[in-house]
Amino acid sequence: MTGPDPSAVKATFCNVASRYDLANHLLSCGIDFLWRRKLVSLARKETCVRVLDLATGSGDVAFALREGLSGSPEIVGLDFCPPMLDQAREKRERMGLAKESNEFIEGDCLELALEDETFDLVTIAFGLRNLSDRAKGLREMRRVLKPGGRLLVLEFSQPYLWFRPFYYLYLRGILPWMARLITGDRKAYLYLGTSISNFPNRKELSAELVESGFSSPHVHPMTFSVVALHEARKET
Ligand SMILES: C[S@@+](CC[C@H](N)C(=O)[O-])C[C@H]1O[C@@H](n2cnc3c(N)ncnc32)[C@H](O)[C@@H]1O
Repeated sequence: MTGPDPSAVKATFCNVASRYDLANHLLSCGIDFLWRRKLVSLARKETCVRVLDLATGSGDVAFALREGLSGSPEIVGLDFCPPMLDQAREKRERMGLAKESNEFIEGDCLELALEDETFDLVTIAFGLRNLSDRAKGLREMRRVLKPGGRLLVLEFSQPYLWFRPFYYLYLRGILPWMARLITGDRKAYLYLGTSISNFPNRKELSAELVESGFSSPHVHPMTFSVVALHEARKET
């Protein structure tokens, strides 16, 4: 379960931070809104008091949760890339949200400086793929979840077989050039293609969740399984 070099990952995201949102929306043709909406609809199934959004980046998942969850839960977004967190904080200000309603903190998903069993829900969107040690990251997520708490992982997956030729043509041939026009950084988006190809498929990731101590993994494939939402629970 070893992944990319963390200092390279950090440098990549720090470099594209100011154009990250624009690139996200354009390169996904706006479908990223639907993927996040699905995450929020699953999150809403149960009442949450404290929510942790890991690898929060520019905070879009944290803000979607703020809008979608009832009962005004405390929502903490964590990321190790300061320029991405700056984007999140600026966005919070533009949205007129109070600091306390969406807190953004700097930290490493592999060593969370957070107490055991303190969150009802942990989310991570397009972040797990970037962790240098997924097993360690998943253990940390389990540690900070309350017994009975849930983990939602939104991540790229392996698309259905018939769709792969179209998808890989776009991912490897077209997307890096479009990304270069938008962000000026073609290499960052070549990394995206490689990291997606190296990431486990739905069945394999479900098995990793179980190995890391989560129970009842359930997968929701989206957009021909280009993306999958994994839902799992920490036993009571
Ligand atoms: C693709 S972005 C996803 C951002 C956001 N969740 C979204 O859905 O748009 C990945 C984020 O993971 C962060 N990241 C990667 N490894 C990390 C780690 N070990 N600890 C904290 N953040 C990490 C990066 O800084 C980056 O902001």
